[in-house]
Amino acid sequence: MCGIVGYVGYRDVVSVILNGLTNLEYRGYDSAGMALQDCGELRIYKTLGKLINLKNELEAKKYELKHPSSGIGHIRWATHGSPSLVNAHPHTCTCGRLVVVHNGIIENYKELREELIKKGCKFKSQTDTETIAHLVADEYANSKDLEIAVRNSVKKLQGAYAICVMHKDTPDLIVGARKHAPMVIGLGEGENFIASDIPAIIEYTKKTIYLEDNEIAVVTKDKVKITDINGKELVKKTEILPWEPVALSKLGYKHFMLKEIHEQPDVIRNVLNGKLYDIDEPVILNEVKLDKEILKNLNKIQIIACGTSLHAALAGKYLIEDLAGISVEVEASSEYIYRRTTTDSSTLVIGVSQSGETADTITAIKQAKEKKAHVLIITNRPDSNMARLADSLIPVNAGIEVSVAATKSYSAQLISFYLLAIYLAEIKETVDKQSLKNLKHELIQIPSKIEEILSDLKPIQNCARKFSSYKNFIYISRGINLSTAYEGALKLKEISYINATGYPAGELKHGPIAMLDETMPVLAVLIPGGITYEKILSNCEEAKARNAKLIALTSSNDDNLKNIFDVVIKIPKVNEILSPALTCVPLQLLAYYIAEFLGKDVDQPRNLAKSVTVE
Ligand code: M6R
Repeated sequence: MCGIVGYVGYRDVVSVILNGLTNLEYRGYDSAGMALQDCGELRIYKTLGKLINLKNELEAKKYELKHPSSGIGHIRWATHGSPSLVNAHPHTCTCGRLVVVHNGIIENYKELREELIKKGCKFKSQTDTETIAHLVADEYANSKDLEIAVRNSVKKLQGAYAICVMHKDTPDLIVGARKHAPMVIGLGEGENFIASDIPAIIEYTKKTIYLEDNEIAVVTKDKVKITDINGKELVKKTEILPWEPVALSKLGYKHFMLKEIHEQPDVIRNVLNGKLYDIDEPVILNEVKLDKEILKNLNKIQIIACGTSLHAALAGKYLIEDLAGISVEVEASSEYIYRRTTTDSSTLVIGVSQSGETADTITAIKQAKEKKAHVLIITNRPDSNMARLADSLIPVNAGIEVSVAATKSYSAQLISFYLLAIYLAEIKETVDKQSLKNLKHELIQIPSKIEEILSDLKPIQNCARKFSSYKNFIYISRGINLSTAYEGALKLKEISYINATGYPAGELKHGPIAMLDETMPVLAVLIPGGITYEKILSNCEEAKARNAKLIALTSSNDDNLKNIFDVVIKIPKVNEILSPALTCVPLQLLAYYIAEFLGKDVDQPRNLAKSVTVE
């Protein structure tokens, strides 16, 4: 959840680390810090709040710096100890000569802390990370070798960590290690990088090495040495990153979220590319590594995910059950991992995750693998930990998503589920060929229909203006768009901090209707032509009778809707089963514009982080 950047080389070290942290700021922003090796001095700077404060601090104190030649930086999303200056990274040992930045959680830090206090270590913070600083310093006192000290220390750590360590006595040497938290090395000429995620280094190099669990990296400007936990040197594969630095630019949009919403038509074309190129031909999903005979007889799927990915999974359930007739359970990863599940070797378990690093989902996937299930991962990060656990991997190729609120990755996940559901339906022959052909034909048109929505933002902006002062919303729908209602409400909550609840429309009368009055607008997603339209309309009438303000998100041309709803947001005509791919877009925009009108920090909402690497 935090971000780490380390650099040794000839460039302006402060700028490289600050740039890297800027590109990681979506991962956490409670406090920031940097340690620099500067002509024999070890200098440490820390600030509370966003990275801009650290930038300002370093600008104000640049007179102190001679010529820094290496450094490590960190942005924090607080887990142990509140966001405060003393809890900000880097953390130091008692004598202040050793510094550590850390991403993850050390589970046995209390025991270690007590032992170290008994040995005379003086702790300053409430963090688990400070324990690592004292532990490595203690080992260093014996070995006088930073690599050995880190190796001996991490053997004693329980939990998750990606760490970078520097010592005043060993200038321009960074030792990194990881377990259950990502860490990547960037390779250059006369310079090297180490970071918790590639956006931090992509401006400088595309040559990378991914560190695996229990590996230690020793990084200097001319060399990167990687060893296993026993000190055996490893020969690691160098990978070339597929992304361009432009992915990290707002390209003229006010926020990354708005840019990413507008990227959705192209993202969807990208997902379809090569998998659905001819509606007369079956969907090609070579990524699914299960034998077609096994898929033919498959009768149980479990999908596990969190947050927005969970909502894509819910749409996936409707699609797979409807088209392929396979029973699908959808569960939040955080629930799946703490109960006795029915997963077995005949189950296909699908993990969905934008980041591929969500701790709850990783744990769930590991449990499913222990039960011998085939694990299919749908992720935007084919380089992630989750992807490495996959038996089958569908990369959604949405490109780097910077805004904390997921938008384009959601659309890409949804489209992946359409492809998977059609693929399974074609193998199992559960739907007639003509109907599938029609469906594929309409699926290909989704990007241009989203472009139509994006070409006229006025109705959504007007709706946002009209409703931005309300404190509570209910989003309702039925059928496949229930997932849209959940996702739309989550988007609003995340970035505007307005209370919004997604609810099955038919359940309104079983409780929530008690809350309805003129202060609680009801937003309904209703698509004509399907089986739920009239029913949702009746549920809206029930809400109107309780004086609730009503917003419709619909493709209906029925003029009568204006007599029922205060605002009608129109989307292009669409088949109900495909409609979630369209209905999500106005709801992303509605949340965006409400948050924007309220002056909220759209891309980096409070208390959130882009990838949640703690359980
Ligand atoms: O990376 P993941 O898809 O596994 O992340 C899951 C959730 O943390 C994530 O979807 C979160 O809800 C986003 N902030 C949604 O906008």
